[in-house]
Amino acid sequence: MSIPIYFAPLQSYTTLPYYLAFESLIGGVDKYFAPFYRADKAGIFAYDKQMLVRPKLHVIPQVLTNSGEELIRFACDMQERGFDEINLNVGCPFPMLTNRRLGSGLLPYPDMLRNMLAAYFDGDTPLKLSIKLRLGLEVDNEINQVMEVLNDFPLEEIILHPRIGIQQYKGEPNWGAFEGLVARYTLVGNGDINSKEILDNLKLRFPDVPAWMLGRGLLTNPCLLHPEMEWRDTMLKLHDLFLNNLKEFGLTEHQILNQLKCFWEYPSRHLEGGQRLLRKMKKVGSMVAYEESRKRFLADS
Ligand SMILES: Cc1cc2nc3c(=O)[nH]c(=O)nc-3n(C[C@H](O)[C@H](O)[C@H](O)COP(=O)(O)O)c2cc1C
Repeated sequence: MSIPIYFAPLQSYTTLPYYLAFESLIGGVDKYFAPFYRADKAGIFAYDKQMLVRPKLHVIPQVLTNSGEELIRFACDMQERGFDEINLNVGCPFPMLTNRRLGSGLLPYPDMLRNMLAAYFDGDTPLKLSIKLRLGLEVDNEINQVMEVLNDFPLEEIILHPRIGIQQYKGEPNWGAFEGLVARYTLVGNGDINSKEILDNLKLRFPDVPAWMLGRGLLTNPCLLHPEMEWRDTMLKLHDLFLNNLKEFGLTEHQILNQLKCFWEYPSRHLEGGQRLLRKMKKVGSMVAYEESRKRFLADS
């Protein structure tokens, strides 16, 4: 039996129209994680139209909060829409959020995390809850106390991206630290799995890991797990399906153009000269100009 694969949430990139296109063309992903929602100052969540009803896909909505009350409200909102699981983001590294004890900024405060989870599980927990986190905010042993807290609650699963918050996305994932933790806890692994070879090596090194999560690697090369598929042909088809979905979701031309520019951001890294093409594409202001730019993207390499 093959080990489950999860699609990592990336704000602005892993949208529902993208996930739907990916699933219908490529598939092989067991859970699609949606980028985080965050309540405003008044504690209100604003959901985009796309998340009003649970899609046929196995999507896990994510929330960024440090409040039990907000966590419960988010779960109730998602239950109304038909979802059966939510994910709590304790990994986001951006200082504007970590300064507010959100994302990986919560890792140095295990008691705050405990209070939030206690509030969630003391109530009529409406939905399964999983957590995505890093090793720490500033040091990689912050996770030890955090894991002791998490161990006290019936979480669905814990996904670890073994970097610390202040690293953001620099340096290498610390698989040595991950190794020490998987000896004691069941963890899903995530971070820089940019080829099938890297994934296969990690599976060999960590045979007890129940699932692997991939983000940028899959966005850059959507056929990463399907060596029999051809990149250019896959990109063309994925693009057309994605564009169709954007239209079906009723986005304006301006919104569609912005999303299409995002669509090419990671694939551009797969191509020699891709960065130059992307810079040109980012300047286009109409669908007609976009179409010209897209053609160059797939022909010009
Ligand atoms: C642009 C960008 C946006 C991201 N947005 C989110 C997010 O909304 N929620 C989250 O949990 N992680 C987010 N991440 C982190 C990814 O989910 C993932 O943990 C990280 O990129 C490492 O995995 P990868 O190397 O396979 O991409 C984001 C990462 C990037 C680069």
